[in-house]
Amino acid sequence: MNLSAYVNEIHLNNCIYNASGPKCTTDKELHAIGKSQAGAILTKSSTFEHRIGNPEPRYIENQLGSINSMGLPNMGQQYYNTLAPILSTTYQKPYIVSVAGLSLEENINIIKALNQQKDITAIELNLSCPNVPNKPQTAYDFERTQTVLDTIVPICQHKLGVKLPPYFDLIHFQQMAEILNQYPLAFVTCINSIGNGLVIDVDKEQVVIKPKHGFGGIGGDYIKPTALANVRQFYLLLKREISVIACGGVKNGTDAFEHILCGAAAVQVGTQFMREGANCFERISQELQVLMQKKGYQCLDDFRGKLQSI
Ligand code: SIN
Repeated sequence: MNLSAYVNEIHLNNCIYNASGPKCTTDKELHAIGKSQAGAILTKSSTFEHRIGNPEPRYIENQLGSINSMGLPNMGQQYYNTLAPILSTTYQKPYIVSVAGLSLEENINIIKALNQQKDITAIELNLSCPNVPNKPQTAYDFERTQTVLDTIVPICQHKLGVKLPPYFDLIHFQQMAEILNQYPLAFVTCINSIGNGLVIDVDKEQVVIKPKHGFGGIGGDYIKPTALANVRQFYLLLKREISVIACGGVKNGTDAFEHILCGAAAVQVGTQFMREGANCFERISQELQVLMQKKGYQCLDDFRGKLQSI
């Protein structure tokens, strides 16, 4: 059963790989993804300079998923830039750098610096981090998103995709798709965590993470239906050249299958990767293959996007 995929023109031997977030900050973590069955290596969202991020505790899991307010802890763009040749040649899989400058000017500077590095396969521009105090999620401001893309698209010499927050209203899907369709984007990633949720410890009558009085991004099972809806809507509304990459609530092969059925070209794993480590990529891939075999599918194109209405 063949799990190879194209994201725009980027070839992946396996459509399953990591979400930007868990376990993709240090060289050791990125090498672990490289050694695994993951189809690509995606970095933690990078600012220009190294960032420590928010105070701990800032990530908690329960049976239904996770809440985080990491605050973009990362090693800075130069670190991910310098790692590109070694990671891409050692593992022969796409190396994608996530970028989350704290201002447009910072994003411009990061993109210009990354332009110098030919071993980067693509940039995932994160327009949706909910966890930096006093910084709104860019992609909830449609005019601002247009300004950012008007500025970044012309200067970015790598293939460029954007990571979106979840949308909940049909008109917002349409409005955002109309904006995105104006640019030669390679992909959109749907979705980042559902921002500013609250998880409570009933015994202590307390929030469970320290930053922002306990408010943080929700991931895992909690968000799968919202992620599926966003993948489906953008698959239907975006021009064909823009691939949709799914992210949200993927912990087994069936979850990955559902996202591909909605139209995903590839599938990222976040909370479950944090829980299980890099072996999750092989397990989820095998489960997906078993399900495809049962259904008589040879490759992802046999069922991608073919979700039926009743
Ligand atoms: C974080 O570092 O706060 C998470 C990144 C994100 O949700 O975009």
